[in-house]
Amino acid sequence: MIARLFLVGVALLMSGTALAASAGSARINYLLHCSGCHQQDGTGSVENGIPNMKGRVGHFLRTPEGRAFLVQVPGTSQAALNDADIAQLLNWMVDALSRNEVPANFLPYSSEEVARLRANRLDDVPGYRAGVVGRLKEMGYQVE
Ligand code: HEC
Repeated sequence: MIARLFLVGVALLMSGTALAASAGSARINYLLHCSGCHQQDGTGSVENGIPNMKGRVGHFLRTPEGRAFLVQVPGTSQAALNDADIAQLLNWMVDALSRNEVPANFLPYSSEEVARLRANRLDDVPGYRAGVVGRLKEMGYQVE
């Protein structure tokens, strides 16, 4: 399955079509770089420590810390993708996996924002996440 997705990705990249600015490339980047752990539908594997993003991840956009977390979490920040590709991937991903939870006033990620956030590594990923999730819970949004 992964091998087949990889071949599809390579074939598309080699076809020379201008994928860079399209939603198609964000989807392909998700399939190539993220879905191995997170699953195509974003449900992940909660029992193996991979959170379910489907119908949830959009809530993180409701606070500045949650918005930053989606970039700073290692799976995103350490992916072999440039800042512009990550911005596009996240903009596509929150809509594809969690459209109903994305706040109406959401402004898309820019490559500049990704670059700035990516430069700041999180020392304590679970601790930071717990803070974000706790704040969202206080606001009435359940993400797990
Ligand atoms: C090797 C497995 C793996 C890959 C590949 C991976 N992740 Fe993750 N991801 C995780 C794990 C594990 C967590 C839980 C936090 C942690 O331990 O880093 C996580 C957490 C997240 C979260 C936070 C969700 C939440 O509810 O806390 C986001 C957003 C995320 N990953 C995005 C991505 C994106 C985007 C990609 C691809 C560019 C990606 N991940 C690739 C394993 C992975």
